[in-house]
Amino acid sequence: HGIARVVISRAYRRGDLHARILADPAARADPYPTYEEIRARGPLVRGRLMTQAVSHEAVTTILRSDAFAVGFDPETMPWISRKLLQRVAADERIVGPIDPPSLLVTNPPDHTRYRRLVSRVFTAKAVEALRGRIEERTTELLDALAARSADEPVDLVAEYASLLPVTVIAEILGVPLDMRQTFLRWGTLAAPVLDVGLTYQQYLESEAALEQMSDWMYAHFDTLRKNPGDDIVSKLVHLDDESGKLDDRELLAIAGLLLAAGFETTVNLLGTGAVLLMRHPDQREALAADPGLWSNAVDEMLRYEAPVQATSRRATRHTEVCGVTVREGSFVTAMIGGANRDPAVFEHPDRFDVRRPNAREHLAFSSGAHYCLGASLARLEGEIGLRRLFERFPDLTLAGELHQRPTRTLRGYDRIPVELTARQ
Ligand code: HEM
Repeated sequence: HGIARVVISRAYRRGDLHARILADPAARADPYPTYEEIRARGPLVRGRLMTQAVSHEAVTTILRSDAFAVGFDPETMPWISRKLLQRVAADERIVGPIDPPSLLVTNPPDHTRYRRLVSRVFTAKAVEALRGRIEERTTELLDALAARSADEPVDLVAEYASLLPVTVIAEILGVPLDMRQTFLRWGTLAAPVLDVGLTYQQYLESEAALEQMSDWMYAHFDTLRKNPGDDIVSKLVHLDDESGKLDDRELLAIAGLLLAAGFETTVNLLGTGAVLLMRHPDQREALAADPGLWSNAVDEMLRYEAPVQATSRRATRHTEVCGVTVREGSFVTAMIGGANRDPAVFEHPDRFDVRRPNAREHLAFSSGAHYCLGASLARLEGEIGLRRLFERFPDLTLAGELHQRPTRTLRGYDRIPVELTARQ
């Protein structure tokens, strides 16, 4: 909002590199040179908005340290509009992704409790059990694409990348398939709430969707209480007192976050991954020749173009990171996108290489207590979704201007025109 804009643009004019990424669309389109400027100044750089970290070691240390906490503090973060935070706090029934008790903004002991309960049902086995459904849905979506006329370009985001993740989330939430379009709309409107430059106006636009989703979810929990399915939310609804029952607000925080955190991030992985392969034919050939490389290729995509470029933490006490003192109360931006290109960890970091031996050391899923709960699901969707796409359409090519999303934290395209088959 007003204050946020003024604070960010003033910091930008005074040379703050973080503010440059937030304020300047060109720097946002390609943030990597700015990350290198920050890196050249040291592992931890005190900026006008926040302290900035792009070093892999510094980012990992911050994310794993118990001297740092999550959450917003309008006193020391003036670029977050107070009006917005008041509005977020005002409506008890709505629980957005940045609103407690969302896992993303909760600290121990509450965070530990939620995490333990969700991890109990969102297990590796539960994710593996989704493999067959993901394959089926992927085939259906590819069949629909194949039925399209070959003469006109297709938008890969609208017609493929955005449809698979929302279908998978619908499975997890036990939502009937005919609600898919509605969830797609809610997910699209809720995602900007995760973005660092969120304006009051954007929040108002998201709020209506969050409100509708909240009402629908409360009724849905009642249905699942009477009529449980084999989905993850049915299991959460039926946790007994012994394991620690979740109330409706807590359930909504978890279900809403699964939609907000698991939707656009995965859309961006699928979209950006497809673009990377279309632009690197040698890498595409390597995958066609050896499909065993797919799993590593997905991690290399996550490293090279992290769908979540940054996250932030507040120091809860004086501490030291990479030899630099961080004062209590300081805010730090952990620049995941920069850490993933750290030459101290990744050889030739600006090279996209599906065979990179240590691609999995990327920090795209964060690290420590808030490590992405959906990481193995996202990897599975990325691998199946991209592998089947390129198997079905081996001649897939870009057919027009790509359009980058305007978001600051979430990185990806919102339009990718492609030709599915080679022109005769
Ligand atoms: C947390 C990235 C997909 C659910 C996070 C965080 C990151 C992230 C960076 C931690 C933020 C922080 O440390 O402040 C991604 C990426 C994805 C993806 C890049 C796709 C490529 C998913 C999916 C789901 C999911 C598919 C579930 C359906 C969550 C949840 C959290 C989380 C619930 C909060 C964990 C906590 O705070 O304890 N994700 N995510 N994510 N993610 Fe993901």
